Amino acid sequence: MGKLDNKIALITGGGGGLGHEIALSMAKEGAKIVLSDINEQSLKEVTSDLQKNYEADYVVADVSNQADAKKMVDYVVEKFGQIDILVNNAGGSLNTPKYLEDIKEEHWDRVLDVNLKGTFLASQAAVKQMREKGSGKIINMSSIGGRTASLVTGAPYAAAKGGIISLTRRLANEVGAYGINVNAIAPGLIISGDRMHRVFYEESSEKEREKTLNDIPLKELGEKSDVANTAVFLASEESKYITGAVIDVNGGRFMG
Ligand SMILES: NC(=O)c1ccc[n+]([C@@H]2O[C@H](COP(=O)([O-])OP(=O)(O)OC[C@H]3O[C@@H](n4cnc5c(N)ncnc54)[C@H](O)[C@@H]3O)[C@@H](O)[C@H]2O)c1
Repeated sequence: MGKLDNKIALITGGGGGLGHEIALSMAKEGAKIVLSDINEQSLKEVTSDLQKNYEADYVVADVSNQADAKKMVDYVVEKFGQIDILVNNAGGSLNTPKYLEDIKEEHWDRVLDVNLKGTFLASQAAVKQMREKGSGKIINMSSIGGRTASLVTGAPYAAAKGGIISLTRRLANEVGAYGINVNAIAPGLIISGDRMHRVFYEESSEKEREKTLNDIPLKELGEKSDVANTAVFLASEESKYITGAVIDVNGGRFMG
């Protein structure tokens, strides 16, 4: 018996590193997976990897667009009859600059639109479906950058990820009565091979890497599975009395 047997999970940003790992971990626990992303090529690759052992499908959708957010949720419900789990994972700093003087209005809009507005739009569409069956799990991807004044990413990212925490609490309050749990995960620096990991760890000097590790009480970077295991927990019945929470997966670098 898996922890998520016969549950239907939609994972946004499913073509990326953490999305792939969360999908695999949920599928191993028995969930059927639909991945969504704007990048069809990576969606195809992740989906065919999952399909080797599990039931999986994908839908191309831009979470920052209301019609697309609705379309991806409708696709899941048409295909599987319901949606049990939504992981609002699409996001990141999206190749935007870090320092104020370099940040243009379009950078602010891109980061806020995908991370924060996208989380809102997908949640709104999913809650409509989850309400009808009286249960559901929404898991939002925040970041250590939204928990503390990290200088690792720029102000738009910090604002968006901080906004996701407020949104998580507000939604949790509103939809708890319908049997829907809404929680957030705030990862620290994760070994994911992505840009953040490369720029802020692999490509930094030995001294900087040493400092990074020194600031982490557990003295190591996180692994994708650390985040994925937390997502499985929040999607399962083991967390049935947890809502509106933010789980820090950061080795103790920030303790909320
Ligand atoms: N990797 C880390 O160390 C780390 C740390 C803290 C938080 N996070 C958060 O975890 C999430 C996943 O990060 P990742 O490391 O897997 O990054 P990633 O870049 O590998 O994956 C992000 C995915 O989101 C997709 N995406 C971008 N814009 C989109 C849109 N408009 N609609 C739908 N999909 C879109 C991208 O195509 C990409 O596949 C992000 O929200 C990120 O901010 C990551």
